[in-house]
Amino acid sequence: MDKKIALITGANKGIGLEIARQLGRQGAIVLLGARSFSKAEQAAAQLKTEQIEAIPVELDVTDARHIRSAAEKIQEEYGKLDILVNNAGTYLDHEGDGVDVIRRSFTTNFFGPYALTTSLLDLLKASPAGRIVNQSSILGSMGTLMTDKFYARAAAPGYTTSKAALNAWTAQLSIQLQDTNVKVNACHPGWVKTDMGGPGAVMEIEEGAETAVYLATLPSDGPTGGFFHKMETLPW
Ligand SMILES: NC(=O)c1ccc[n+]([C@@H]2O[C@H](COP(=O)([O-])OP(=O)(O)OC[C@H]3O[C@@H](n4cnc5c(N)ncnc54)[C@H](OP(=O)(O)O)[C@@H]3O)[C@@H](O)[C@H]2O)c1
Repeated sequence: MDKKIALITGANKGIGLEIARQLGRQGAIVLLGARSFSKAEQAAAQLKTEQIEAIPVELDVTDARHIRSAAEKIQEEYGKLDILVNNAGTYLDHEGDGVDVIRRSFTTNFFGPYALTTSLLDLLKASPAGRIVNQSSILGSMGTLMTDKFYARAAAPGYTTSKAALNAWTAQLSIQLQDTNVKVNACHPGWVKTDMGGPGAVMEIEEGAETAVYLATLPSDGPTGGFFHKMETLPW
């Protein structure tokens, strides 16, 4: 199979849908993960009108059954996975700072991508150039929070700690995969005009997808085990 197979989580809207669009325009078959099959179908129908080969996948990243069935489907249909973009994420800190908020933030932002990626690792290794992109946030960058007063003001313990955990695991996984064809990097999209970013954000969705697309299509001499925004490295 010549075409790249790309799975993007949270691909029914926002940055995830745009990442799928940009990868699809480059000729990849894009598997659109969404919490419900109907949301995934709607997004796939939209991309198909743009001549993109888009396949809907029911994939709530917190649901072990969905993860298992997505892995089985990819194994049966394609026997490999070239690109995994762990884009699905949630911001719950407006609900308060109780343990439940922290736990639910971790469930979606860390345990979800962890479980999905480990289930798909053999398929990524079966690709000649597997690429994993973990959609993080600059709010998960400890180096930034401790040195930049603007970001330090963001009191969001659930979001920052769950994204920081995603970053730590990105580094860990890159070490584990260093003798393979699989590269893994973390990504900060920027402050983007989506339902999560809000209308006051500074970046359009097209631009917000660019860092993830860059990392998803890295050449064989590209980096692994880094944290990037717009091809520049960010501090962990
Ligand atoms: N926008 C920004 O400024 C910004 C900045 C830094 C980082 N990010 C990160 O970028 C990623 C995309 O955010 P966005 O701005 O595009 O937000 P968005 O428009 O709110 O989209 C979030 C996506 O994640 C999905 N999702 C949430 N929980 C899920 C789960 N358990 N399983 C599967 N999908 C799930 C949502 O599905 P539903 O439609 O079903 O809710 C939606 O498709 C997130 O990881 C976010 O943390 C965004």
